[in-house]
Amino acid sequence: MKSFTALEFALVFAVAAIDRAWAWGNVGHETIGSVSIRSFISSETTSFVQTSLGSTYNESLGVAATWADTVKYETAYEYSKPYHFIDAEDSPLSDSCSVELSRDCGDEGCIISAIQNYTERLMETSLSATQRQEALKFVTHFLGDISQPLHVENYEVGGNDIDATCDGKSTNLHAVWDTGMLVKSVDANYDNDVQTYAAELVTRIKTGEYKSLASGWVTCITDSALDGTSCPLVWAKEANAYDCSTVFDYTKGDDLCETSYYTTAIPIIDLQLAKSGYRLAKWLDTMAL
Ligand SMILES: *[C@@H]1O[C@H](CO)[C@@H](O)[C@H](O)[C@H]1NC(C)=O
Ligand SMILES: *[C@@H]1O[C@H](CO)[C@@H](O)[C@H](O)[C@H]1NC(C)=O
Ligand SMILES: [Zn+2]
Repeated sequence: MKSFTALEFALVFAVAAIDRAWAWGNVGHETIGSVSIRSFISSETTSFVQTSLGSTYNESLGVAATWADTVKYETAYEYSKPYHFIDAEDSPLSDSCSVELSRDCGDEGCIISAIQNYTERLMETSLSATQRQEALKFVTHFLGDISQPLHVENYEVGGNDIDATCDGKSTNLHAVWDTGMLVKSVDANYDNDVQTYAAELVTRIKTGEYKSLASGWVTCITDSALDGTSCPLVWAKEANAYDCSTVFDYTKGDDLCETSYYTTAIPIIDLQLAKSGYRLAKWLDTMAL
C-alpha cells in the first residue's frame, strides 16, 4: 500500500447526479473530484490519474467526475443507469433504515456492485487504457453518489416523486439534495466557486473540524477490501441512515431551502462530500495503480 501524502491534486468530491432526477449535480461531483485532487493522493496515483485522463479531462478528477452522468443518457451506456444508486427497501418514515445487498441490489446491478466491478477493472492491467480510464471515471463518480442519502433509498423513487420547493422553485426532494441546497450554499458561502468550496473542505480535513474524524472514514479500506463489497456497503449504510434521521423530517409545504431544514442539511452535505473526496483518494492509493 502506498503512503498517503498530502499532495495538492484536485478535490475528488464527485457529487454525482442520479439518473432519476439530477444528481449530486455537477457542483457536487466537481467538488469531490477537486477535493481528492487537491488533497490526499500519493504522487504515484496522481501520475496514473493524470496520464489516464489526459488533456480530454485536463488531467483532472474533478472534470472527469461528471462523465458518468452524461453518458447514462446515451444508448451505449444505458446499462449503467442502475449503477448510480441502490434502492434500499427499508422504511425511513418508520425510523427503520437499512441496506441489504441481497434484497436491494437487483439483477441489473447497483452502485455497490458497480463500485466492485469498476474497481477490479481499474486494477486490471490487461485491460486497455481506454477501458481503465472508463473504470476510473465510474469509480470516481460512484464514490460520490453513494454518499448522497437519496441515492441509497427506494422510498418514492429516492425522493424523486416527492414534490418540494427550494427558494420558491418547484422541484422534488431528490433534486433538493442533489443540487438545490448545495448550489445555494456554494453560492452564498463560497462565492459560487466550486474550487473555493473544495479548498474549504480540504482545510477542514487537514486542520479543522474533520481532522479527528478523517481516519475513521477510511478504516474499511484495506488491500483485501478492494475486490469486495464490504466498503461500499459501509458507505451506503452510513448515507442511508440520514434518511431516517433527517431527510424526510420536513413540514409539507415548507420551502426546504429557506428553513431549518436547509441549515440542518448543509453540514451533512459538507460532511458527505468531504468523506467522498477523502475516501476516493485513499481507495485509489490503496489500488497502487
Ligand atoms: C486545467 O488545469 C489547470 C491546472 O490545474 C488550471 O489552471 C486550468 O484552469 C484548467 N483548465 C480548465 C479548462 O479547467
Ligand atoms: C462490469 O463492467 C463491464 C464494462 O462496463 C460490463 O460489461 C460488465 O457487465 C460489468 N459487470 C458487472 C457485474 O457489473
Ligand atoms: Zn450519478
